[in-house]
Amino acid sequence: HNHVDHATLERVEAAISQGDTHAHIPDYETYEEYKKSGGYAALLTLQGDGDWEDVQTLLKDSGLRGLGGAGFPSGTKWGFVRGNAGPRYLAVNGDEGEPGTFKDRYYLERTPHLFLEGMLIAAWAVEAERCYIYMRDEYPAVLEILRREIAALEDAGLVTEGFIDLRRGAGAYICGEESAMIESIEGKRGMPRHRPPYVAQVGLFGQPTLVHNVETLHWIARICREGPEVLNATEKNGRKGLRSYSVSGRVKEPGVKLLPAGSTITDIIAASGGMLDGHKFKAYQPGGPSSGLLPASINDVPLDFDTLQPLGSFIGSAAVVILSDQDSAKAAALNMLRFFEDESCGQCTPCRVGCEKAVKLMQADEWDQPLLEELCTAMSDASICGLGQAAPNPIRLVMKHFNSEV
Ligand code: NAI
Ligand code: SF4
Repeated sequence: HNHVDHATLERVEAAISQGDTHAHIPDYETYEEYKKSGGYAALLTLQGDGDWEDVQTLLKDSGLRGLGGAGFPSGTKWGFVRGNAGPRYLAVNGDEGEPGTFKDRYYLERTPHLFLEGMLIAAWAVEAERCYIYMRDEYPAVLEILRREIAALEDAGLVTEGFIDLRRGAGAYICGEESAMIESIEGKRGMPRHRPPYVAQVGLFGQPTLVHNVETLHWIARICREGPEVLNATEKNGRKGLRSYSVSGRVKEPGVKLLPAGSTITDIIAASGGMLDGHKFKAYQPGGPSSGLLPASINDVPLDFDTLQPLGSFIGSAAVVILSDQDSAKAAALNMLRFFEDESCGQCTPCRVGCEKAVKLMQADEWDQPLLEELCTAMSDASICGLGQAAPNPIRLVMKHFNSEV
């Protein structure tokens, strides 16, 4: 009905009927419930006589930045896309593949309509002809929820049939890179494109395309419904806003923690019930494996956009993994590079060969650090996309902070 692959739905429905709890559909806010609480009023008002630049100003006031991980100012993107002649498209990046990240899933399984309304507001703002949702295939419950709720929007006449095109991800980490995602939606092998041109200029089918992450759209709806204060009223350690940290590892209560964006790792561990009994905090991955590993001693830095760059790291999608004295930083870094080796699309030599060589060098009892450093430089300087450019981060940070292990 709305371009969901029927084989997937049959698989999900069969799994549910056989009592497969993995695929169970959680209780979530349906279209009717969302509408009762004022849902879609903001969209309808804007579609009536709204000015997209007023909404852009709201986003700028709120301080919203892209929550896929790059932190690009969301309102600015709208201007870039609108600056190019149509037809224009909107593509939602729901391919949440960053190891340790599960915040998009968390929101989609609870309040899918905040995301859907945010998407329709963004589509209205850039006058998109169609919205493509590229959703991680490993989230069968989310796919089912979206299928149901997109049908509800069509039935309610809020969108025409086919305006929202729900696509299954291809199960590859690299398909979350925005230009590889676009290639994948176009039916090609998911390989990143060179940029510039940015997708805002040349995106889907060669047309200007607005790409937003799922959580970014969730907040766009909230800002339009509740005002920019929903984000900018929170201030901590000199930083404004909120961050959805996906916390896992050696803590008592892992999960998504919505905290001030100025939170430190100490705050995040405290909000996660503290360390597991018998475990002493040793290290943390602040935002996915490409952010590497930081030592427990760096515990007073707000984990927000831009604050970790001087340390050779970044917050990215805020996938925080806590390691303890029972974990090896060396083994963690090797695991991260194995992941990159598997997930490299193979298009460029510094990344394809670099990841493989790094894994071989990191398997040694004692690392050849000068050689690894040289390899890291070649990879970060010469790789086409973020995967190869950031893959050296865990190597460099482990050599710096956990040198006795390597
Ligand atoms: P980026 O900073 O290059 O781009 C961010 C966005 O801004 C893109 O949409 C890009 O098109 C746009 N942009 C940047 N400069 C522009 C310009 N001059 N004109 C027009 N548009 C412009 O970052 P990238 O490579 O898209 O994302 C990297 C981040 O992705 C990392 O920080 C990482 O944490 C995160 N990531 C998240 C994953 C997840 O599952 N959520 C998975 C893997 C990585
Ligand atoms: Fe592909 Fe790696 Fe090159 Fe990115 S850096 S284009 S993942 S080979």
